[in-house]
Amino acid sequence: MYALEAHHLSKSFHTDTQTIEVLRDISLQIPEGAFHAVMGPSGAGKSTLLNLLSGLLPADAGTLTVAGQTLNGLSDQALTLLRRRSIGIIFQAFNLIPTLTVAENIALPALLDGKPLPKARLDQLLEGVGLTHRANQIAEKLSGGEAQRTAIARAFAMEPHIILADEPTGNLDSCSAKTFCETLTHLNQTLGTAILLISHDAQVSAAADTIHLLKDGAICGSFESQHDASVVATRYLELMA
Ligand SMILES: Nc1ncnc2c1ncn2[C@@H]1O[C@H](COP(=O)(O)OP(=O)(O)O)[C@@H](O)[C@H]1O
Ligand SMILES: [Mg+2]
Repeated sequence: MYALEAHHLSKSFHTDTQTIEVLRDISLQIPEGAFHAVMGPSGAGKSTLLNLLSGLLPADAGTLTVAGQTLNGLSDQALTLLRRRSIGIIFQAFNLIPTLTVAENIALPALLDGKPLPKARLDQLLEGVGLTHRANQIAEKLSGGEAQRTAIARAFAMEPHIILADEPTGNLDSCSAKTFCETLTHLNQTLGTAILLISHDAQVSAAADTIHLLKDGAICGSFESQHDASVVATRYLELMA
């Protein structure tokens, strides 16, 4: 069973004068509970891929299945529900509501879904991301590392099938990035939620078990990270050559 399955996805953007082919024939399978990463240079199409996989952007061709539900042809309302309940997203820029507290930000997706987040679940998430002592802090007063760990907890709040993260450590210092990766790994292992992490950083991608390389809009190879940044960096350079 796969948390996410993509087959032959493609995407182009059109301007008045030209067509930019950004993704070509992308197929990816993320098993339930797996931790995968997509790496690639700037402009390779990573963010576009994440936008397709999260249902934010329609693909031109191909099929996408999340949590056993095929997204192709879903109504806007069904897509919104699937995205809210089955997909957790972590953005580079955190995207917290600055005037709400850590706890309120984490509980927001559940509130929007009409079912307040149970206190025990909130406490478990706060503890999981190491922010129990910051629960009542206003988000705008958090450090970058704390803000991104709040965003992790928010992404896990609805017990999604998969977490998608686009360059989530891009605004963090290396120490906070390391804590971020350790937190994500811990939650992947304890909660069993699948993760697809997008990063161009070998150190960060090494947190994932399996890495897919995106080059010029196509997957050019996949390999096991061995949780070793130097292995990842070496394989990356070989496959990109
Ligand atoms: N909405 C858009 N309209 C036109 N071109 C786009 C759009 N979004 C992305 N692109 C182009 O697609 C390519 C891949 O972009 P992106 O997915 O952001 O790459 P990455 O995240 O790997 O840096 C780039 O050349 C970018 O300019
Ligand atoms: Mg990007």
